[in-house]
Amino acid sequence: MEDRQRLGRHLPVMADEVLTALAVRPGGRYVDATVGEGGMSERLLDACSPDGRLLALDWDEEALALSASRLARFEGRVNFVRSSFAELRRVLAEVGWGEGADGIIVDLGVSTLQLGRDARGFSFQVDAPLDMRMDQRLAETAADLCNTLPERELADTIYQYGEERASRRIARAIVQRRAETPLRTTGDLRASVLSAGVRGRPGHDPATRTFQALRIAVNRELEQLESLLERGWELLRPGGRLAFLTYHSLEDRLVKQAFTMWSASCLCPPERPVCGCGWSPKVRRITRRKQTASQQEILRNPRARSAGLRVVERLAA
Ligand SMILES: C[S@@+](CC[C@H](N)C(=O)[O-])C[C@H]1O[C@@H](n2cnc3c(N)ncnc32)[C@H](O)[C@@H]1O
Repeated sequence: MEDRQRLGRHLPVMADEVLTALAVRPGGRYVDATVGEGGMSERLLDACSPDGRLLALDWDEEALALSASRLARFEGRVNFVRSSFAELRRVLAEVGWGEGADGIIVDLGVSTLQLGRDARGFSFQVDAPLDMRMDQRLAETAADLCNTLPERELADTIYQYGEERASRRIARAIVQRRAETPLRTTGDLRASVLSAGVRGRPGHDPATRTFQALRIAVNRELEQLESLLERGWELLRPGGRLAFLTYHSLEDRLVKQAFTMWSASCLCPPERPVCGCGWSPKVRRITRRKQTASQQEILRNPRARSAGLRVVERLAA
């Protein structure tokens, strides 16, 4: 952990809104599926004091160690598990919460800790090994993808996950570069993006979208989210609430689609005159539309700028 932390501590995003939307109360059972540096968990544990309990998950070993030390004063009320949230159903059963939680928060994306650690390779602001794995047990790094994916697949990845219009030019530049020498560092990747003539939006580095795309691909972020959303209401007890904080449209779209389906009263195609699906709504929506951070919070914490909160409550069977 000797790397310098350039960006300071991760400030939890929209914590007041999350606690209100989850209706956190003493004695409840809560899950922080992405504990990170533990800021949101700390607020949750305070709010459910004196006897509420928390299951804290993260697949990043460093994040778990850091949050465990930050939350040491709640000893006996927190259970830390190193796991992807895609495995939450199994983890709940293992800790004896198989019938579900009263509240779950999933704060997606990358933490300030990860961005600030030079050795992790998430940031284009320092030259570091091109890694980007949130869980170091994952097999492939961003360098592996850059050096092995066929040009077309690389371009599709950058387009789909980065929504980068210059994806083809960037993929070509990466492939040309690696033909001479493999990409090893964040600087190599950024230089490839710049050599493709990408300008970027005002106020954003030209490599922002490419870095986001590779991070999503390395960590299979959307697949993890889809697994969690699969019958996700079953992770809650009746009356329990599930909250997502998303930071880009790809994540938000998946959450929105799932919540729309779960809260629908019928899943029949619209042209069908009589309902035959037998579906009943599983949840009610607590947030009608995506809730965003206040201007004051965005000024304090620029990361909150792109955050969106969506919350549902499980209905009684
Ligand atoms: C935005 S940070 C969470 C910050 C946290 N709410 C706080 O207040 O410090 C996101 C965290 O989610 C973790 N993460 C991302 N995808 C994950 C997954 N599939 N399973 C478990 N943890 C994941 C990352 O390792 C990172 O620590």
